[in-house]
Amino acid sequence: MSRVVIRNLVKRYGPVAAVSDIDIAEGEFIALLGPSGCGKTTTLRCIAGLEEVSDGEIIMGDRLVSSKTESVPPEKREIGMVFQSYAIWPHMTVAENVAFGLGMKGLAKSEVADRVQTALSLVGLAPYGSRGASQLSGGQQQRVALARAIVLEPGVLLFDEPLSNLDAKLREKMRFELRELQTRLGTTSIYVTHDQQEAMVIADRVVLMNEGRIDQIGAPTALYSRPVSRFGAEFIGLANIFRGQVVGTEGGTQVRISDDVVLHSLDCGFAIGQSVDAVCRPENLLVSLQVLHGPNSFHTTIASSYFLGNIADVTMQAAGVELRCQLSPPRPWGVGKEIWVQVPPECLVLLSADNAG
Ligand SMILES: Nc1ncnc2c1ncn2[C@@H]1O[C@H](COP(=O)(O)OP(=O)(O)OP(=O)(O)O)[C@@H](O)[C@H]1O
Ligand SMILES: [Mg+2]
Repeated sequence: MSRVVIRNLVKRYGPVAAVSDIDIAEGEFIALLGPSGCGKTTTLRCIAGLEEVSDGEIIMGDRLVSSKTESVPPEKREIGMVFQSYAIWPHMTVAENVAFGLGMKGLAKSEVADRVQTALSLVGLAPYGSRGASQLSGGQQQRVALARAIVLEPGVLLFDEPLSNLDAKLREKMRFELRELQTRLGTTSIYVTHDQQEAMVIADRVVLMNEGRIDQIGAPTALYSRPVSRFGAEFIGLANIFRGQVVGTEGGTQVRISDDVVLHSLDCGFAIGQSVDAVCRPENLLVSLQVLHGPNSFHTTIASSYFLGNIADVTMQAAGVELRCQLSPPRPWGVGKEIWVQVPPECLVLLSADNAG
């Protein structure tokens, strides 16, 4: 397995797409997450050596593999790749598909057979070696693609939306399988997805990208609970956001969001007069039929309520903002029901909005 270091990477297709630094530890599982067109695939293809970089460097293990003047070809990078399209050969058997990449290595037949069988066992396809590849379900074909990548015992595994063609149930199950497999193999892995839940399940750290740049790098819990931008707060999970101005900094920060409402947050480090976005996750709102007396409490009525099984997804107006709340367990409160809602100060995350739109 290899460490992967990306330094000041720039890939230009007319308008600049730039990714600054990512330092991926040996054995780490990294997800590149972001909306369509943000540059995830481009970054991955640069790491694979399928694109030349316009500037910056990529180092794998202790080798410089990409720079403005250097480009080690993909087959010399010791990488395994799995894409959205399975790209397996339908006229070959499962075992032949998996063995294909080993052909160039000059291994003895028996060693090839052993490695193919080990790879097939790892992906749960041990009994399928002699089956024609076209006689497999989509999920099984994707496992063949995975086996074909890991049989090479690569230093780095690269994935580009590998589960996108699978149905929702299988896709959800495969996330956990992939994570477990990667933990067992210990192979450094970089995984592109636009699905935030997939990224959070799979990755040790998530690289959140927006418009060709890194917005934030961190563990899934950090990205969720401490977003650094409004974009991040809204892209990962749901967010209630109040825009306001700092009017006090004692015992936390006080933020005026309208003529008659000042919110309290325990966050510090802001200056009076600064514009901020105050962010609260839906599950952190307190909702009650009884009067709530603490700071950031509002008396309001339910504007909409949807039963989703384990939760009720409820909206209400408070301080001129539509708040979205997820009640768990769901309560049988219909539209128009009078309630109290509180934004707990310790759950109100402040983000500087001075440069935000
Ligand atoms: N070969 C190319 N020529 C010109 N522009 C390109 C090329 N490949 C990608 N781009 C542009 O680079 C930007 C990033 O594309 P990229 O494929 O990396 O996005 P992505 O994050 O993988 O999106 P998606 O989630 O839709 O796959 C886009 O604006 C895209 O149009
Ligand atoms: Mg892509």
